[in-house]
Amino acid sequence: MAMSLKKNRIALIASGSGTNAQAIIQYFKDHPTIKVVLLLSNNPNAYALQRASTHQIKNYVFTREAFTEGTKVVRYLTEEAVTHIVLAGFLWLIPDYLINIFPNKIINIHPALLPKYGGKGMYGSRVHEAIKAARETESGITIHLVNNKYDEGEILFQVKCAISEDDTPEDIARCVQKLEHEHYSRVIERWIIGDR
Ligand code: GAR
Repeated sequence: MAMSLKKNRIALIASGSGTNAQAIIQYFKDHPTIKVVLLLSNNPNAYALQRASTHQIKNYVFTREAFTEGTKVVRYLTEEAVTHIVLAGFLWLIPDYLINIFPNKIINIHPALLPKYGGKGMYGSRVHEAIKAARETESGITIHLVNNKYDEGEILFQVKCAISEDDTPEDIARCVQKLEHEHYSRVIERWIIGDR
């Protein structure tokens, strides 16, 4: 398939292991109109960077100063003609300059049923521990557009998993991760192709 037909060009931003990034890279590998072209991280030790390298996807690390100031990050995105940004385990607030360049073109996944268990500091195992402590009977995933507040953009998709009394936070994490890998890429595809 000619490069020029792949008009939808995704940049992933990931801080950690990057299992979601990997699932997305694999899902779009042979896609006719969507291509993952870049992975950015704030964490030089993020395994997500290696996953990108393994798949010959350009990847760069940025500092907090560079992210806040913007020039370098925007250059990375422009050089690869990025059209959509996918957050896959990224924990910083997205600055206004990026939201202005990519209005409704930034998507995030959160490992709980927003608006519950969202907001600053709510990520990874902290979310599952809080859910366990509150004796919730269900959790799940939320995929939402990104605005300039933590976890408050328009919700595009949610799916639940049941929690039984003896489930540990690790059990909850496993159920949530499975749902993430199952659904995130398909929701991204629908969002891009349906132009949401
Ligand atoms: C995922 O569970 C994602 O939902 C979560 O980080 C994890 C990244 O895992 N994101 C947040 O908590 C955002 N608030 P991964 O590195 O294995 O893809």
